[in-house]
Amino acid sequence: MNEIAIRIGSVEFANPIMVASGTFGYAEEFDGLVDFREIGAVVTKTVTLEPRPGNAPPRIYETAAGMLNSIGLPNVGVKDFIDQKMPFLRTLQSRIVVNVAGVTAKDYVAVVACLDSVPGIDAFELNYSCPNVKQGGMSFSSNAQIAEAVTASVRKETKKPLIAKLTPNVTSISDIGRAVEQGGADALSAINTLVGMAVDVRTRKPRLSTITGGLSGPAIKPIALAKVYELCKSVSIPVVAIGGIMNLHDALEFFMVGAIAVQVGTANFMNPGCAAEITRDLRCYCQQQDLNLSDLIGSLEVDG
Ligand code: SIN
Repeated sequence: MNEIAIRIGSVEFANPIMVASGTFGYAEEFDGLVDFREIGAVVTKTVTLEPRPGNAPPRIYETAAGMLNSIGLPNVGVKDFIDQKMPFLRTLQSRIVVNVAGVTAKDYVAVVACLDSVPGIDAFELNYSCPNVKQGGMSFSSNAQIAEAVTASVRKETKKPLIAKLTPNVTSISDIGRAVEQGGADALSAINTLVGMAVDVRTRKPRLSTITGGLSGPAIKPIALAKVYELCKSVSIPVVAIGGIMNLHDALEFFMVGAIAVQVGTANFMNPGCAAEITRDLRCYCQQQDLNLSDLIGSLEVDG
């Protein structure tokens, strides 16, 4: 059997294809539609300490090759997440990664502290990168010292893998990557959305209630590849790639620049089975080429 399992910190994932936070709800929405055994990890919609309603509509707009969103991290809050969402999540054969955010550094610590002993949670993704909230959000990964300090505080609360999700909306993503590695992160995930905007020329109004939002989908894949390539050269912890991944070909590009795993995001809105299909295609590809995933990771050939 050709090997496609990966490890992040102490946790093994049966395959390297995950579904990205905010594109797959809390998974129960996809019950009966997808084969969860083929999804390496479900990364949940962000969980915060208190419930949040999210931003006012309109909060989604489709662009030429992607999607603008300004959702604003709506969620039920950590208590109801444990009571209402975890009972289904823990029945799945996928790994469960809980995406966590906060308005303050203390919020991240408090949410992880609440969740750490909850059965069924395998890892945490620290969302330092949402461009759609007034407080917190992107500010946590726009400053290396803050990113390192928050990560170090959360590190004290859990032995589970911590994956820090970074924004591309910074001058140097590798400075931030190195800082969170120093703070004790086990892996990075990148990239979250790029700040973008669209205008309705008929009404002369912005398409989103918050004026700007986050751009995702195929439009951002070349940028994501460049950022993931940069990060993989800058840190020694694994990098999980996100950004416009629609099919096996896209995933292979990210493995070749050095990513250990990929998250499928916007594609889930068009085809909920996309991640599972990529896993099956990856298995076939590795079998046909007689390769293990490790032969692909970082196999980019650069002349000179
Ligand atoms: C949102 O809820 O606004 C999107 C999530 C994110 O960008 O982290």
